[in-house]
Amino acid sequence: MTDFKRYLVTAALPYANGPIHIGHIAGCYLPADIYVRYQRARKRDIKFICGSDEHGVPIQIRAMKEGTTPQAVVDKYHKIMGDTFQQMGISFDIYSRTSNKVHHETAAAFFKKMYDDGLFEEKETEQYFDEKANTFLADRYIVGTCPVCGNENAYGDQCERCGSSLSPDQLINPRSTLSDATPIKKATKHWYLPLQNYEPWLREWLLEGHKEWKNNVYGQCKSWLENGLQPRAMTRDSNWGVKVPLPNTEGKVLYVWFDAPIGYISATKELTDQWADYWQKSDTKLVHFIGKDNIVFHCIIFPAMLKAHGNFVLPDNVPANEFLNIEGEKVSTSRNWAVWVDQYLLDFPEQQDVLRYVLCSNAPETKDNDFTWKDFQDKNNSELVSIFGNFVNRTFVLMHKLCGGKVPNLHADVADKADEDMIAEFEATKTRVENLLEQYKFREAIFEVIDLSRKGNKYMQEKEPWIVAKSLETNPEKQKLIDNCLHICLQLTANLAVLINPFLPFTAKKMLHMMKVVDKMLDWENAGKAKLLSVGYSLREPQLLFRKIEKEEIEAQIEKLHANMVKPATTSDPAAKKAAKDAKAAARAAEGKPATTATEATDAAAPASNTKAEIVYDDFAKIDLKVGTILSAEKVAKADKLLKLEVDLGFEKRTIVSGIALHFSPEEIVGRQVVVVVNLAPRKMKGIESNGMILMAEDKAGKLHFVNPDTKVDEGSGVS
Ligand code: MF3
Ligand code: ZN
Repeated sequence: MTDFKRYLVTAALPYANGPIHIGHIAGCYLPADIYVRYQRARKRDIKFICGSDEHGVPIQIRAMKEGTTPQAVVDKYHKIMGDTFQQMGISFDIYSRTSNKVHHETAAAFFKKMYDDGLFEEKETEQYFDEKANTFLADRYIVGTCPVCGNENAYGDQCERCGSSLSPDQLINPRSTLSDATPIKKATKHWYLPLQNYEPWLREWLLEGHKEWKNNVYGQCKSWLENGLQPRAMTRDSNWGVKVPLPNTEGKVLYVWFDAPIGYISATKELTDQWADYWQKSDTKLVHFIGKDNIVFHCIIFPAMLKAHGNFVLPDNVPANEFLNIEGEKVSTSRNWAVWVDQYLLDFPEQQDVLRYVLCSNAPETKDNDFTWKDFQDKNNSELVSIFGNFVNRTFVLMHKLCGGKVPNLHADVADKADEDMIAEFEATKTRVENLLEQYKFREAIFEVIDLSRKGNKYMQEKEPWIVAKSLETNPEKQKLIDNCLHICLQLTANLAVLINPFLPFTAKKMLHMMKVVDKMLDWENAGKAKLLSVGYSLREPQLLFRKIEKEEIEAQIEKLHANMVKPATTSDPAAKKAAKDAKAAARAAEGKPATTATEATDAAAPASNTKAEIVYDDFAKIDLKVGTILSAEKVAKADKLLKLEVDLGFEKRTIVSGIALHFSPEEIVGRQVVVVVNLAPRKMKGIESNGMILMAEDKAGKLHFVNPDTKVDEGSGVS
């Protein structure tokens, strides 16, 4: 159906377990906000729904870390997160929370209806139970020895050393992270949603019916469906969450991924009495904005729930984004490798739009992308300041100087092709932006708007009204040319305000002020029009829209990022080790990994990308790789992992300290050829200066292998 009467837009409910970082904003809140602002400007009937996800293991882990209760954790972060969204101009119609009464009632009723309709399978299974702590253990609360690599601190769902995906039963010597006790197996009953029963319907509805969904989303769904769905427990043993609404179920709550998406419905109820129109009338367009780690829940499980329950609309689209890395590295909240938005707003007050611009024009729409502070500076200085801001500023300055501070006339008798072409661009750009936004292509859309201002600059540059002004004394008729140019540039400025508004609303507001017009002008239907400002209307002095960001400010941010990073713990420091362990658990919890059993488990089925952010050839070309031959090797005293190597590089011999002693004996590697990074800055290890690094491949089991030419080559041969 294309004829939608109303829109319902949701943005993933973030776990209330920490502040908001730029990855959150770029991942779903900004695109959702742009989409909603655009649709509002088109006068669509639309509701924009969000709130805090306050249940589940992530919250409990955070409470454990902060030595407080889950309720205290969610109260604290719900407030912080809500404030940040508001300051960034993320214009939810409601920012609710899942701990409130409406939600508990709504989620419980949803479950009860499905239960009454006989849609769950009741199963009793044996789960790990901690007798000391008197609680069942979610997978990530269990550690033990990895059956694959022998790591003694592998988690119940995954070994962090070798990357194997595990179930708690595979761990050797399992123990509870809560009490260190050895957990026992205990029978427990849970309610499962037999997802496999919905497979044929999902194939039809999703794979056949929604081929237009983004490739990254469609592809992930396809692979889930091709791997076959399994029954999934919709309840958990826990005291934190929505209580299971059945008799004799003390200590059981709804699975967080069952209750959270229902939070969209509860929040709509809280917002409007007309909530049922939005959720139950088939001419509602429901769109879920999420990050890629949420795809299966929004495209498969929640739709299956809605379908099973009956009487609900299904998402028309789920435009999920990939991840945003920071300075080439994955965001890690546990290592504090992140740019926190509340911090940003303190350092760059009133510059919400700069961040909105950078995150939109660099959004990870089709693949993981990288945020760097340098790029932030470049985008601000050379796009916002030099192109968009510069155009608007020049237009206003010249209008005041050459046209008496008023909108000049457009004199048809001297209008030329350049004028006509410029005006034609208004409409053309509007159409392009509109089509792109309807297809959730926000990066390209914002590019079009900036490009229109670039064209404005070019037009003005060619018309040179400041030069024309010099000949006015001898030829007063030329004022007409000046008028035409500035008339068009002013109408263009008004168009830019309408077009930029969904993306950079704070900037649009400033432009309205300069043009002395009311909000109404920002209605989308005004975009493309050539007569938005009336001739003779007097306008204000220009206001600077963007300011240059200095090198020092950027350096300070980069330094802050590195300084705040939590360094990985060293093995000799048990306290640090414990902290790192907790942090890791929290980070994994924050990923909200899907589970197939009553406790948590990592699903290996979803394709996960583990490649680093894209680089350009020049980045690669900086690395000098050469082939060398190992002349000698010896163990380094008091360092189990290190070998000291002498390597012949042809042009010189070098000492290199390499962390491969656990994998190779010195004898077996002498004479081997290796690939060396020869221009790496020297580094002292155990008092020995190492001058380079040897490339090694690490297999799944964590074993190292040499990377070398397939036949012996001259020492010093380049590798590229
Ligand atoms: N809290 C989840 C996360 O941050 C998202 C929940 S989205 C909802 O990954 F649909 F469940 F609400
Ligand atoms: Zn392992």
